[in-house]
Order: sequence, then structure tokens, then C-alpha cells
Amino acid sequence: MALIKIREILDGRHEGAKVTIRGWVYRKREGKEMIFLLVRDSTGFIQCTIRKNSPAWNAAERLTIESSLTLDGVAKQDKRAPGGYEISADSISIIGLAEVFPIAKDKSEEFIRDIRHLWLRSRRMNLVMKVRANVLDFAREYFKAQDFTEVSPPMFISAAVEGGSTLFGLKYFDQNLYLTQSSQLYLEILLYSLENVYCIAPSFRAEKSRTIRHLTEYWHIEGEWPFADMNDLMRFEEGLMTHVCQSAADKCKKEFEELGADIAKVVQVKTPFPRITYTEAIEKLKTKKPHLKWGDDLGYEDEKALADEFGKPFFVYDYPTAIKAFYCKTYRDKPEVAMSVDMMVPRIGEISTGGAREDDKDVLIKRIREMGLNEKDYDWYLDLRRYGTVPHVGFGMGLERLLTWMLDLENIIDAIPFPRTTRRFYP
Ligand code: 4AD
Ligand code: MG
Repeated sequence: MALIKIREILDGRHEGAKVTIRGWVYRKREGKEMIFLLVRDSTGFIQCTIRKNSPAWNAAERLTIESSLTLDGVAKQDKRAPGGYEISADSISIIGLAEVFPIAKDKSEEFIRDIRHLWLRSRRMNLVMKVRANVLDFAREYFKAQDFTEVSPPMFISAAVEGGSTLFGLKYFDQNLYLTQSSQLYLEILLYSLENVYCIAPSFRAEKSRTIRHLTEYWHIEGEWPFADMNDLMRFEEGLMTHVCQSAADKCKKEFEELGADIAKVVQVKTPFPRITYTEAIEKLKTKKPHLKWGDDLGYEDEKALADEFGKPFFVYDYPTAIKAFYCKTYRDKPEVAMSVDMMVPRIGEISTGGAREDDKDVLIKRIREMGLNEKDYDWYLDLRRYGTVPHVGFGMGLERLLTWMLDLENIIDAIPFPRTTRRFYP
């Protein structure tokens, strides 16, 4: 008797055959003459029926929700069963009999979030995690195809990347260190050796705002490469986004369907993406928000308003220098404008930020001072401009924001198995 995955039965590969499955009880319904179990494994659910005269009856009677088991029986097509197939069980062996499972239909969202470690067994989280794993594969595929080398930057760092307000400090023996907000500066080091580099790693933000798009720990897809300009950067980013969306539309159809996510919007993602300047964005927004002026940062509502108008991913570029980080390269003839670009999507707004990096040592020192940062902290970063500086660009995209958009998730916390927010860090 072959031990098989439930998916194989649902795909019609074991019609009429004796099979063995291993999994957990998802639902149970008891009649006088028959017990119905819905059993799940990592690949899906199948209905299993146990007749009163079957040797499996006693075990089936004892089974509780989420008990683990091995079940033998005959697989057969049955239009009435969810998924179109069922197993008529011959024997059941209980592996772990579960206590009363705390998740039932009427539990509140708040309660479900508090017992995340059990909720991760739900079909919904199972599907999201599968798409997440696939999206990571698709992103890596694209970087590799473009000749990028994957690198592993540190998470303990000694100087801020994105400014002090969202920096997590920590005691490192008797020193003060931080958790990294972005691996960008380390990718910049490595491009002098490997040229095209990328990483997929956690980033940390002491982010107090409770929104549908903020976590305190998220996964960051970041790339950095030399001898490139803003146009190369936008072309790369739209290429990556298109590859991820097209691959997901092709290979994750079932997951989108079961999650009730609109697949059409990812099918429609194609290069080139619309591009507007920050100045044009302000002009557009002014019609609804007359007080907005050049120099203001775009908030979530502004980004959302722009993005909902486009209805698909697009770029906003050339932001005011004053609202950008110290490392942003500025136009020599317009130092008030930085070569910075955000990718935006409907409902979420910004999902990536990138740009050209200041490659002139003296301009960079001036920027560090202007921003009130300590030059000493960035001495190694300045070395990169002292020894063979090159023009270079890079970007960072938040994996969970990308998934929130792709899968129409209500909140970013459902895009990651163990979300960290101001209030959530258990388990
Ligand atoms: O815009 P950010 O802060 O840019 C950087 O960190 C650059 N150093 C990246 C680079 O050029 N290598 O963050 C980049 C992206 C955002 O666009 C967003 O998608 C995501 O990271 N992000 C967050 N995702 C979830 N929760 C948060 N608190 C996030 N903060 C940023
Ligand atoms: Mg940004």
C-alpha cells in the first residue's frame, strides 16, 4: 500500500486504488452509520468515510479535531465530496490524539492572531506561505538570470541606514548596536568585488504606526549594482516585478483561486511601467489636496490616491533631496532633487524604494553633515568613494508588501508567518 500525498488523489492519480495517507483531522461529522472526516496534509484536504462495520470505526469515534493519524483505504471519485474524491477507510491508526482544539468557527480575529502558532495550520495561511515561497523562488530566478550574485549581509550593525526614528538599538555586550533597517550599505561594499549583488534578508524598523503596511521585522529584497543609472534601475525593477507576477499567474493559479485573490491584476503586469516625476505627482494630488506643496513627503493616503488612479504598478521618481536619505545622489545642476524612485501599487502605495547613490566623496561628506549624522560612523562607507568609486544604483522591495498586494490580503501581518508589530511578538 503506497503512502501518498492527498494532492495526488485529488489529481485523479489513484482512482480505485488502495492508498495510505498521513495527516490531521480538519473536520469531523458523525452519523449513526457513518463517520465523515476531512483530513488534511501539507498538500490539501480529502473526505474520508468510515462505515460502522469497518475495523476503523473505533478509532474514528475517538478522533478529535487536529488529531494526527495514518489512514488506509480505497480512493474513489465522488462528486458529493469536497474536491471530488474521497477515501473509504479500512483502518486508522491514531498518532497523536488532540485535546479540544481552541480554534472554532466563531472565534474573533483578535483571538486567532493570539494563537498564531495554531492558526498557521489553517488552509489560508498554508496557501499564503506557499505563494510566498514561490515568490522568493521567482525573485531569485530573475536576479540569477541577470547575472547577480546572492550575498549574506549582517543584521547587527553599528550605524543607521534610514535615519534614527525607526532604528532599533540593542546592547551588544557592553556596546550599543542596532538592528539593520536595510542591507543597502553592505551591498554597496560588496559590489566592488562582485559587481551585481542582491540579498533577501530581514530588515527591522521601530515603526510605531499601526497600518495595514507596516511590520517591525520584514523581509527585504535588495539589489545593488555598478555602472548603471536611473533608467537602468527602473527597467530592472519593472522586469523583476513582471517576472514575479507572470510566474505567479502561471504557477500559483490554484492558490490564487482558493484564496479568492484577483489573479487578473497580476496577469496584467507587463513592462514598461508608467513613470511620473514627484513634481507631476504633486500637481496631480493638488487638485484634491490644495495645501500640498513641492517638498512635502507623500503620505499613505497620497500614494494610495495616485496608485488607485493608475490601477497598476508604476514609478514616482526625482524626489526632493530634503526628504531622502543621506546616501541619495543629487543632480549636479539641481541639488534640491535626488535620483530616487519609488514603485507603487494600488491599495498599498509604496512597495519599493531605490535610486542612484552618491559616489562623490566630498558631496557625500557634505550630505552626512547636513543631515546631522556622525561622519566617523560612516568612515568605511566613505572608503568606498576613496578607492575606485563608481556610479551605482540599487533598490529595496518589501516582500510582505508585495504579497499583500498580489494576494489582496487585508493586512500585511498575514503575509508573514510570525508577524512582529508593536503589540505582537508571540510566539
Ligand atoms: O523605503 P525604504 O526605507 O528604503 C530602504 O530601506 C532602502 N535602503 C532600500 C534600498 O535602496 N536598498 O524601504 C524599502 C522598502 C519599502 O518600499 C517597503 O516596501 C519596505 O521596504 N518597508 C517595509 N515593509 C514592511 N514594514 C515596514 N515597516 C517597512 N518599511 C519599509
Ligand atoms: Mg521608501
